Parts: sequence; C-alpha cells; structure tokens
Amino acid sequence: MIRLHNSIRPAFRSRRWAHNIPTFSHLNSVNEEDLAHFSSILAPTSILSTLPSISTPADDIAPYNVDWMGKYHGQANSVLRPRTTQQVSEIVKYCAQRKIGIVPQGGNTGLVGGGISLQKEIVLSLGAMNNVRSFDPVSGILVADAGCILQSLSEYIAPHNHIMPLDLGAKGSCQIGGNISTNAGGLRLLRYGSLHGTVLGLEVVLPDGTILDQLSTLRKDNTGYDLKQLFIGGEGTLGIVTGVSILTPPAPQATNNIFLALPRFDNVLPLFQTVKRQLGEIMSAFEYIDRTAYDMGLQHGLGPLLSADEVGDSQCFVLVETSGGNQDHDLEKLNNLLENLLTADEPLINTGVLSQSPTQFNSIWALREGLTECVQKEGKPYKYDVSVPLADFQKVVDAVRERMISKGLYGDHAISKVMGYGHVGDGNLHLNVIAKHGYRPELEAALEPFIYEIVADRKGSVSAEHGIGSMKRDALHYSKSDVSIDWMRKIKQTFDPLNIMNPGKVLP
Ligand code: FAD
Ligand code: MLT
Ligand code: ZN
Repeated sequence: MIRLHNSIRPAFRSRRWAHNIPTFSHLNSVNEEDLAHFSSILAPTSILSTLPSISTPADDIAPYNVDWMGKYHGQANSVLRPRTTQQVSEIVKYCAQRKIGIVPQGGNTGLVGGGISLQKEIVLSLGAMNNVRSFDPVSGILVADAGCILQSLSEYIAPHNHIMPLDLGAKGSCQIGGNISTNAGGLRLLRYGSLHGTVLGLEVVLPDGTILDQLSTLRKDNTGYDLKQLFIGGEGTLGIVTGVSILTPPAPQATNNIFLALPRFDNVLPLFQTVKRQLGEIMSAFEYIDRTAYDMGLQHGLGPLLSADEVGDSQCFVLVETSGGNQDHDLEKLNNLLENLLTADEPLINTGVLSQSPTQFNSIWALREGLTECVQKEGKPYKYDVSVPLADFQKVVDAVRERMISKGLYGDHAISKVMGYGHVGDGNLHLNVIAKHGYRPELEAALEPFIYEIVADRKGSVSAEHGIGSMKRDALHYSKSDVSIDWMRKIKQTFDPLNIMNPGKVLP
C-alpha cells in the first residue's frame, strides 16, 4: 500500500478514467480548391499552407502546430490570418459548408493544448486583428479586436491612467481574445475579479459564420440570457471571438509589494488572515511560492530578494501587493504589518522585504512571474492548475512527490522536481511536475488520474484558470456532474451542430 503524506490520498473509488483520442471522420482536410476559395477572401500574405499552390516553408507553419510547452503537436497544413470580422465570417461560412474543422488561435500561450489542431483542422490565427476600436477615458471602457496583445492594450491605456483588469506572465504574447476564451485569471483577479465580471460585451463569429454583435459598452444590461458568458472560457468551441468590450479600472495611485519568507507552510493561512485584516482594502495580490520553486527561480537567475542567511530553512514564500490611493498611508500600513509580523511572540514569518523603488517592486514580481519560464527550462513540465482548499496546497504537492518516490520515478532519471506556486488568495495552486528527460506515458500514468482524484476528493476544480483544452477533457467529470456535462453538450450541439469549431476540445 502506498503511504501518503499527512493522510492526503485519493479515496478508493472507481471513477471513470480513460484517455480517448477523438476521431473526426465527419470532417474534411483542406485541399487546393479550399485554398483557392480562401484566396478570394484573404490577401495572399494572410494564407500559409504547405500544399503545393502556396508552398509555405514547413518552418513557417511549425509555430502554429506546437504549443508553448512543446507538449501538444498539431497537424494543420494551413493557417489563415484574417484582418477583419467579415473575413472571419466568410471563412467560417465556407468551412461549415465544406465541413472543415477550425482551431481558433491567439497568442498560443495556452497551457492545456486548446489552441493546437488534433487532426487536420485549419488554424485560424487572430494575430492580424489587432486594432483598438475605441477607448473612453471617462468610463474606462475599451473596445478592441480580439487579436490585440494584452501588454499592448495595457500600454495603450496607461497614458489615460487606466490598467487592464487582468495581468499574467504571458502578457507579452497572449491576446485579449485568448484571455477571454480561456477565462484567464492571473495576478489581479483577487482585486478586480474574473473576466465574467469585467467583460461588458463580445463580438463573436458563430460556427455557421453568423456575426453575433453583442459588443455592448453598458455596465448594466439585464435583457434576458447573457450569451457572452458562454464564450468567456468557451475555449473556441462555440465560436470565434473577434471583438471585445472590457471595463478597465483606474490605475492605482500607489503600488507596493513585500516578499515574505515563512518557516513553514502551516503559517500561510493565518498569515493570509492577518494580512487581509491589517491591509484591508489596499491588498491587491497574495501569491505563494514553495521552497522548491523559489530555489529553482534563483538557479535560473531570478532574485535573490533575500540573502541565504535570511532565508535559512524557510519552507515557503508569499508575495503581497498593495494598490491604494496614497503612498504614505499605504507604506505606513505595510511597515506596521511587517513590524507586527516580525515582533509577534510566535512570528508567522522568518523575514521579509518591502520594495523601496520601482526597480525592486518589479524584481519582486519578476520572481513570481518568471517561474513558468524557469519550469520550462528545467525539463518538460506536467502542469496541474487546480483549485483546492488553501490548507491543502502543500499536502497536495507533497502527496504527488511521495507518489513519484513510491513508484521509483523521482530523481534525475524521471521526475526531477515537484513544486507548487500560485494564487493563494484565489485558492489556486499551480502544481508543477518536471520530467527531466521529456514526457513519457508511464510518468503521466503515475500522475493521472491520481491528481484529479485528490482534487475531486477535496471538492476542488481540475482547472482553476487554464481551461480544459485537450489535456483535461477526460478529467472534466472530476469537477462537473453528468448533468452539467450533458447540458454543456446540448449547448455545444446548439451552437455547433456540425462540430467544426475546435473539435475534440473541452467536452469528453
Ligand atoms: P491561445 O493559447 O492561442 O488559445 C487558448 C484557447 O483559446 C484555445 O482553446 C484557443 O482555441 C482559444 N482561443 C484563442 N483565441 C480565441 C478567439 N479569439 N476566439 C475563440 N477562441 C480563441 N493563464 C492564467 O489564467 N493565469 C496566468 O497567470 C497565466 N500565466 C501564464 C504565464 C505564462 C508564461 C504562460 C505561457 C501562460 C500563462 N497562462 C495563464 C495561460 C493562459 O491561458 C494564457 O496565457 C492566455 O489566456 C491564453 O491566451 P492566448 O492568446 O495565448 O490563447
Ligand atoms: C502562473 O500563475 O504563473 C500561471 O498560471 C502559469 C503557470 O501556471 O505556470
Ligand atoms: Zn496562474
């Protein structure tokens, strides 16, 4: 019998588990005739294809056929890069007639294989639709093409003293349409809430080519069913998001951050309560990094934010950000917090540092945001983005490490590191398992469904913010009831009866 740390282990029950490879016998591959038709819609430079009439070099198509991690490999022979919603509509209408599968692709930074073709679907890349349509500096409402890069939008509204309501490490590549389609969470969710609240309207090309124009700029609109919500987190399975109306908050007058080293994980929860109580309305992020992730970050040149002596044998770290209206007031609160934490009878922290300049502020964030890239440099990551009760974060990480040890799969020959970091304030753990020499079926078999079982036992979610894509299709039932999945299928069938829109993703 496998012994697991601190009594975290999946209950013995036989939930369904099988990896089904979807087959699309109902769909056709793109041929020369199709390319000729696409040429009547798009400029020649907007069509990439390895078929003879276009003969794009394979190297130019390759980036559209592999995801950010190098885990998912597609087989699309053609990529279309429309510039207008009308062009998207005409392409989709034609694909529906010809039964050609379509994979919408944004910045291709998704982490669950949602933006990569499974068989020979065509890739529809939104990158050339990258214009801001309007920005109202009074209301803060931004209307933009779906292909706008998140960071470009931040830079566009910065002179008007507004910020985007979401921020993530992939900001330099991910697109607002991709963010919406994955319902990305990220580093600001604690303060500004999810995209289900900040997105005011969408323009979507439906699977029959119809343009659904719901690009509302109203804050309040209770006129029946709120269809746009279906496309937020729809992962391209219900339609192609081409335009976005989003509420951007005013930039805070003062932002500060602190980085804290904790002697043990058990202190994280009481620390969260203390910080919330003392900082109140100015707390805007509360992020977690375990010791393995911190040491990995240092090895790859992040930080150091604290000296080795100060860190000592700290087991984990917390980054707290404040966003408020008055620098003196906020600094006073932060200084008081640090002093109280350090002088308590039983201190919750070993040490901490308060950023003293914009450069230090950025390097504290760089350590947290840089972890995803470091993980990538360590080997091939199995990434599990889960919601579990905060008190279980470290137990889940430890249970997975022990599982790999018990299977003889822990060490430089197989899994070199198991680590956790994430958005503690949102109950979102990023459990990262590094396969030193690449993805291997026996490693995946040891991890799945083991991890999903643990998450389901804690009534958690198998996907907190990255989505389902093709990675977690078969794990959906760990977090959604049969009734829910049945209704999701009915919705898919209603919007996309031909099953051409990102087929084989999300639904099992
Ligand atoms: P893609 O990867 O291109 O696509 C993602 C999915 O959306 C696919 O299913 C695709 O078909 C669909 N899609 C894309 N565009 C459209 C569209 N216009 N219409 C319809 N469907 C579309 N995620 C978080 O939630 N929080 C984080 O903090 C976070 N940090 C990250 C950090 C790094 C370094 C990386 C690499 C990824 C991170 N992610 C994070 C993952 C995340 O999902 C994205 O980065 C982002 O939201 C995806 O946007 P994209 O434009 O790259 O979409
Ligand atoms: C993060 O919070 O850093 C992202 O979601 C990406 C990751 O899980 O590594
Ligand atoms: Zn995240």
